[in-house]
Amino acid sequence: PTILVAALVVGYLFGTIAFGLILTKLFGLGDLRSIGSGNIGATNVLRTGNKKVAALTLLGDLLKATVPVLIFWRWGAPAAAFAGFGAFIGHLFPVWLGFRGGKGVATYIGVLLGFAPIGVLVFAAVWLGAAKIWKFSSLAALLATLVVPVVYLTLGNTMAAGLTAILTVLVYIKHASNIRRLLAGTESKIGSKG
Ligand code: G3P
Repeated sequence: PTILVAALVVGYLFGTIAFGLILTKLFGLGDLRSIGSGNIGATNVLRTGNKKVAALTLLGDLLKATVPVLIFWRWGAPAAAFAGFGAFIGHLFPVWLGFRGGKGVATYIGVLLGFAPIGVLVFAAVWLGAAKIWKFSSLAALLATLVVPVVYLTLGNTMAAGLTAILTVLVYIKHASNIRRLLAGTESKIGSKG
């Protein structure tokens, strides 16, 4: 149990590194909180118009989950899962930002990459397909995170299925305003400033 607590805490600390805020500040792109959705994630960084910084945000928010998962693998799959869960919670509820964090999409992919990488292919296929058709980052993420746990379950990886099912629920909760906008027809498309 001690190792699981350690995994959770270390994962959490990694997760709290808000790459979107750090990078936009570093590159002088303005206050991310007052741009677009106000979210700290790569989708909103893209609304600054800087694709490179958006890509770096995606990479940073992704790898900050992969790293602790890989660190804790040596203590077994449950420890790795706790590290990934911790990182995800750290991104969603970072203590440094008054627990007002991101929506978890990049960090979700990072957990998949460290824990059961086949999920990254599934996520990417669904996300890219949906994004190409509808051009909403949020909708693409909502569909991808719905499919991933089901695929893990089908493949017999129950631990990955269980872990990602929990993360998916949190992704949905964090996307409440996006879901409202999608239903109202007011959600902004990928790259558009709205
Ligand atoms: O990555 C989060 C994305 O699904 C939605 O972001 O900024 O459009 O609320 P945003």
